[in-house]
Amino acid sequence: MVKEQLTRLIETAVRQTGYAYAPYSDFRVGAALLAKDGRIYTGCNIENAAYTPSNCAERTAFFKAVSEGVRDFEAICVVGGKGGRLTTYTPPCGVCRQVMMEFCSPKDFQVILAVSKDDYVVYQLEDLLPMGFGPGNL
Ligand code: THU
Repeated sequence: MVKEQLTRLIETAVRQTGYAYAPYSDFRVGAALLAKDGRIYTGCNIENAAYTPSNCAERTAFFKAVSEGVRDFEAICVVGGKGGRLTTYTPPCGVCRQVMMEFCSPKDFQVILAVSKDDYVVYQLEDLLPMGFGPGNL
């Protein structure tokens, strides 16, 4: 991915933290999911008074895209922090990794964890979910 595109993805994810609905944890997460056609789908975490119905930022972005017929993805950027202060990387939870596994090639899909446009790390999905169970296992 070219640096310009990476920067745009990070900036989009950071902007999304402003939409996080996180009254219980105050941990505000933003995600920007890049589809192979170049479109970016956004997400934030959406919590719930009953706790378990809460949805992570990554899954919000995936479900928005898939619900619009888009299933081919290149990368996702995730940022987050208490009170929206971005100080450390926010790795996706196990459930979100499994959702990525459903739609993305573990060897190609890139997961970008960022603090700012100059401070980020890039993983492949297979690094985050080794020997994951996916559609190919059925
Ligand atoms: N959260 C995400 O949205 N994505 C992650 O990668 C980690 C956790 C959310 C879930 C919950 O609303 C809050 O962060 C604290 O766990």
